Amino acid sequence: MKYVIVSGGVISGIGKGVIASSTGLLLKTLGLKVTAIKIDPYLNIDAGTMSPLEHGEVFVLNDGGEADLDLGNYERYLNVTLTRDNNITTGKVYSQVIERERKGDYLGKTVQVVPHLTNAVQDWIERVARVPVDETGEEPDVCIIELGGTVGDIESAPFVEALRQFQFRVGHDNFALIHVSLVPVIGGEQKTKPTQAAIRDLRGLGLTPDLIACRCPKPLEDGAREKIAMFCHVGTDQVVAVHDVASLYHVPLVLEQQRLIKYFTQRLKLNDIKITEKQIAKGKSLWGRWKQLTTGHDRLFETVTIALVGKYIDLHDSYTSVVKSLEHAALRCNRKLEILWVDASDLEPARSTSSPVQYHKAWHAVCQADGIMVPGGFGTRGTEGMIAAAKWARENQIPYLGVCLGMQMAVVEFARNVCGLSDANSSELDENTTNPLVIYMPEISKTHLGGTMRLGLRPTNFQPGTEWSKIRQLYGNADSVHERHRHRYEVNPDYVERVEAAGLSFVGKDELNERMEIVEIKDHPYYVGCQYHPEWLSRPLEPSPPYLGLVAAASKCLPEILGHAPAVNGNE
Ligand SMILES: *[C@@H]1O[C@H](CO)[C@@H](O)[C@H](O)[C@H]1NC(C)=O
Ligand SMILES: *[C@@H]1O[C@H](CO)[C@@H](O)[C@H](O)[C@H]1NC(C)=O
Ligand SMILES: *[C@@H]1O[C@H](CO)[C@@H](O)[C@H](O)[C@H]1NC(C)=O
Ligand SMILES: *[C@@H]1O[C@H](CO)[C@@H](O)[C@H](O)[C@H]1NC(C)=O
Repeated sequence: MKYVIVSGGVISGIGKGVIASSTGLLLKTLGLKVTAIKIDPYLNIDAGTMSPLEHGEVFVLNDGGEADLDLGNYERYLNVTLTRDNNITTGKVYSQVIERERKGDYLGKTVQVVPHLTNAVQDWIERVARVPVDETGEEPDVCIIELGGTVGDIESAPFVEALRQFQFRVGHDNFALIHVSLVPVIGGEQKTKPTQAAIRDLRGLGLTPDLIACRCPKPLEDGAREKIAMFCHVGTDQVVAVHDVASLYHVPLVLEQQRLIKYFTQRLKLNDIKITEKQIAKGKSLWGRWKQLTTGHDRLFETVTIALVGKYIDLHDSYTSVVKSLEHAALRCNRKLEILWVDASDLEPARSTSSPVQYHKAWHAVCQADGIMVPGGFGTRGTEGMIAAAKWARENQIPYLGVCLGMQMAVVEFARNVCGLSDANSSELDENTTNPLVIYMPEISKTHLGGTMRLGLRPTNFQPGTEWSKIRQLYGNADSVHERHRHRYEVNPDYVERVEAAGLSFVGKDELNERMEIVEIKDHPYYVGCQYHPEWLSRPLEPSPPYLGLVAAASKCLPEILGHAPAVNGNE
């Protein structure tokens, strides 16, 4: 097993995660099997209880683990399936060590950060790195480890020490380190001092950089590169520049141009790893498709606009996976994606919070959009606005996708305005509603004591007689699909018959036919809602089907995407 550590100096938030996942992608193009671990020097034990306002979106894994954006990044770039153990936090390691101490595993010895905690970190890394993560079901060849925070922080000290020891445990040929640094431009000059200081700190703690990845607005000048090489005791080929590029998909190309693959092949003796012909061919094809994706991205000129109707819409971070999924779909449809961010409560006429100007601006965006998307969320704020947006899309034949709350609001809207249940509501919003279309249907967690969320990968079965369904065709006419969930409320089964009779079909249900997973309207260009969150399984080269359907319908290319010729006689 080869380990590539990605650490950061100077400041955090300069794209360590992207550099780490791009490096992983490049190694994958050699046919290697790559996995990833994120180390977060926080005391929290899982991300589910953390405020989305502070940390951005919660990302859910197959096993129900609640993580943050970074693991999502790895899954998307590396096309792998990670588990909650791929995220190591200070809290998780400490609680493991303390538990062992309580059980007497340390035979009453004094338990210390060094060696007990640092050993626990190393054992954890070695154990998790071996877990198969892709369709081969085999042990990975390379593990990328991203160390959160910056080296030199009090928080990350035990991890830095653990990694220092780890380089000797696994040996020089199996351990390489990329240190990500910042090269600011002041008065037109690229400044290398912060990088020099960051490398000095790193060396002081016993770690040696193999590559210094310099984040800078423009490509690194030769002078600056030579200066960094000289003052940091590395060769100039060990200084790579990661300048700002048109999209994050370009970062692997930037690294490849600076011969990163060649460097790692020598440094980690990658030629000693046995790779099957099939894996090599797969790697080559992956690289070809990736390059095509990025060059395609540069040539797009036709735009597709999607109105994203949610709450806290200015916190774009809480919608990262949704935006990525729309982006993946737009790339497949050869369109440039333009998102119109609409705060759902601005669509409500009676809201005191929205001025007439905001109200009109919000409706202008919704009316102008080629497609409308209502993503998941919690709480009452803005729900009447989401219902209004769903109504607009349904009545005006505008492509619509509702995810989780967005699906529930579409069902409530349909019940109110088509089934005549004018007081229909969700019991999450109004617990005493006379017509609860959405009710609390907890699933008792097998792993979390007292947990009641439906969390992680679950199957959805398409119902008999739904061959007409666009969403089913998008899933390749599957009988059953697996997607990731995170919710407590669901469509009330008591109303299903009535709603379905009026034209909103429940085309996908869970394996007991109790939980409604997918809704769709047949006589509509694209009107789909799903209870699960398809955005957590979307990949740049394999867009998520529900999102692809929305963007394709909005771009008027859904028939091509579905693989049949467009209707010629116009009798749709
Ligand atoms: C890992 O878990 C911690 C603790 O809950 C959380 O703060 C962090 O965001 C998670 N990191 C990733 C990459 O999921
Ligand atoms: C991504 O992984 C899935 C399953 O693990 C596999 O079926 C698919 O072919 C992979 N895609 C690419 C582009 O390698
Ligand atoms: C549904 O519940 C919300 C939240 O309590 C409330 O604002 C709204 O007026 C209700 N709608 C109807 C039609 O009862
Ligand atoms: C619902 O009814 C219960 C019992 O009648 C009452 O205590 C509660 O306040 C009501 N909730 C709302 C939101 O009106």
